[in-house]
Amino acid sequence: MKRVFPVPRQHSLYQPPILNPFIYHIELSVTDKLKIALASVTLVPLRLLCIFFIVLVAWPCAFLGRMCCPVCVTQEPVPNWKRHVSRFVLKTLGRAFFFCVGFIQIKVKGKKATAAEAPILVVAPHSTFFDAVVNIVAEIPSIVSRAENADIPLFGCLLRCSQPVLVSRTETNSRKKTVEEITKRAQSKGKWPQLMIFPEGTCTNRTCLITFKSGAFIPGVPVQPVLIRYPNKM
Ligand SMILES: *[C@@H]1O[C@H](CO)[C@@H](O)[C@H](O)[C@H]1NC(C)=O
Repeated sequence: MKRVFPVPRQHSLYQPPILNPFIYHIELSVTDKLKIALASVTLVPLRLLCIFFIVLVAWPCAFLGRMCCPVCVTQEPVPNWKRHVSRFVLKTLGRAFFFCVGFIQIKVKGKKATAAEAPILVVAPHSTFFDAVVNIVAEIPSIVSRAENADIPLFGCLLRCSQPVLVSRTETNSRKKTVEEITKRAQSKGKWPQLMIFPEGTCTNRTCLITFKSGAFIPGVPVQPVLIRYPNKM
């Protein structure tokens, strides 16, 4: 179906400075390549070993989480004590995991608003799976996630513990339902955990911000912007 605009879409008078932020292109120098080769036989096995131990600890936690919140936990906010416990566990496991994959130090500038002050955190630019580190630093806000993710073995259980908004792609009016759920939580005056949303909805190569999707802004509540920066070039 063709979109019909009330006025014809205007062409920009200026070319955007970044033409295509979806291209990922890195050039590796010889030193870089040597470093990668060396790390593959030293650092990588060490890190895998650490991750293995974290997974060992995570299994029983996920199991307990499943026992305590057996059915889908997305209908009602869970009681405060459960939220505190699962938040603590997820934060500790998550921080350990990110430490193992190389996030030794995470610098945070500014102060996070409370769920009552700003129910939604909008995070950009989104460029990688590792952007999930914001979730750990921001005390485990809920995320908007595909419903299938909640069924992934270990990870799905841990995800459920953070009370995500699950989006089922097979449902006909999933978009509407998602917006309703986000609005309900955002307007709960802090009863629901904060929501974390990547408003760009997809990854770019970090050279610019792309158009935000409207989901995070439809509830009309204060949002706190969060900017992600990676100091390394790769
Ligand atoms: C990202 O995209 C821009 C525009 O296409 C390009 O100039 C830049 O080199 C890209 N950056 C990376 C890291 O690939």
